Order: sequence, then structure tokens, then C-alpha cells
Amino acid sequence: MREQARKKLFFALDVDDMQKAARWVERLKGRIGGFKVGKQLFTACGPEVVKMIRAAGSEVFLDLKYHDIPNTVAGASLEAARLQVKMFNVHALGGREMMTAAVSALRGYDGGARPLLLAVTVLTSMHAEALHEVGMELEPGVLVPHLARLAQDCGVDGVVASPREIESIRKVCGPDFLIVTPGVRLANAGADDQKRVATPAEAVRAGADFLVVGRPIAQAADPESAAEAIVEEMARAVAGC
Ligand code: C5P
Repeated sequence: MREQARKKLFFALDVDDMQKAARWVERLKGRIGGFKVGKQLFTACGPEVVKMIRAAGSEVFLDLKYHDIPNTVAGASLEAARLQVKMFNVHALGGREMMTAAVSALRGYDGGARPLLLAVTVLTSMHAEALHEVGMELEPGVLVPHLARLAQDCGVDGVVASPREIESIRKVCGPDFLIVTPGVRLANAGADDQKRVATPAEAVRAGADFLVVGRPIAQAADPESAAEAIVEEMARAVAGC
């Protein structure tokens, strides 16, 4: 159970250079399922950072949230597959044609394991008022499951969603659609700038397939033990304890 839980935990590698990234990979590889590389680290280091993590034997969640014309996103998706990432994401707001182009590009990839394709529905930083300001009238609580269902219909494997959104997405997308959840905090810890948090056990029980955790591990006095404690809590939740 513990090894199954370990594979579900990704550490957000929110650092700005290769040396810092490599130090975290050395400390945490084997203890967790993999590392999330976001826009800051990728802009600073490029694909070399993904290659470094893969060379260390770990998995990568490439969090670049592609949102462009279909042909461009198809090309970027193919490059993500060539980098052998475990998963990467696009914005569902790019629409059906864009998501379908990404799915088709991956289906045509024959260079090894095909990455999982995730969609971002609505950025958690976009509240109702901010959505209205850009002309989107649906409330986030309606828009999120709507976009998740659209992504699923396009052949996307899953979504990135906050703990509070899991239930409504499961309801419309069923049990097999993947849900990757950031905003995880250990019980009794602060929330940092996260607005909607859940403990690792709550997120797993709510139906999250993967958890993305950054500061609760990075800022712990003993990051290795913090990662282990999160895996332990996830394993108990997977076992139904
Ligand atoms: O440090 P923390 O655990 O909050 O890190 C969470 C990671 O997940 C960060 O890299 C953050 O950008 C990302 N994320 C998030 N909320 C979202 C989407 C992504 O916190 N809605």
C-alpha cells in the first residue's frame, strides 16, 4: 500500500536553478513518485532539467499549461512525449479542437510510453468576479465540471483540480478520469497562499489520484521525513483507514 501511495506523490520543484533542483531530486528521489516542473524552473533551465530528473530515475509532471492554436499545442505535446514526462497539461479553455489535437499528437507518438495528458479547468486564482470581467458568466462551481467533462470528451486523461473541486468532477467524469490535486497541507499546518486546502488523507479519500505538494515538504525542518509522513498518511487513506 505504501509503495502504491508513494507513486501518487509529486513534489513541486518550485526553484530557480539547476543546482537547487538537482539537490532536491537527490534528497527525494525514491521517496516520492516524481517531480513537478513548472514555468519558472523550465524557463530558467529548459528541457535539461527534465532530462536531469529522468536520468536520476524519477518521473516528471511537466506543468506548462499549454494554451495556443491546435497545431502549436500538438507540436508541444509531441515534444513533451519525447522528453519522456509522465504527465503534462493544457488549458481546457483552449477548446475542443486544441485538446483533440494534443490527444491525436500523443496517439501518433511511437517513441515509448505515452504521457498522461491533463487539463487545467479554471485557475484557482480566478474567482467569479475575475471570470465575469473576462466575459465568462458561469460560476467556477459550474464551469469547472463543465470543462472537465469537455476535456474527457476530447480524450484527455484527467484534470488538475483543487481538493474542493474533486467531488463535482468525479460526479460528471466517473471513477476512471484522473484527478491531480495541489493545495495539500498536513493537519495543523498553515495554508500559505492556498485558499482551499485538504490534508493528504482527505484528498485521497475525496478521490485524488495524484497529489502535488511543495512547501509542506520544502519548508519542513526535515523534508525527507515530511515526504515520508505524507506517503504514510496517503497509504492509510488508500487502505481505507
Ligand atoms: O507549495 P505548494 O504545496 O502550495 O505548491 C503547490 C504547487 O501546485 C505549486 O507549484 C503551484 O503552482 C501548483 N498549483 C497550485 N494550485 C493550482 C494549480 C497549481 O498550487 N490550482
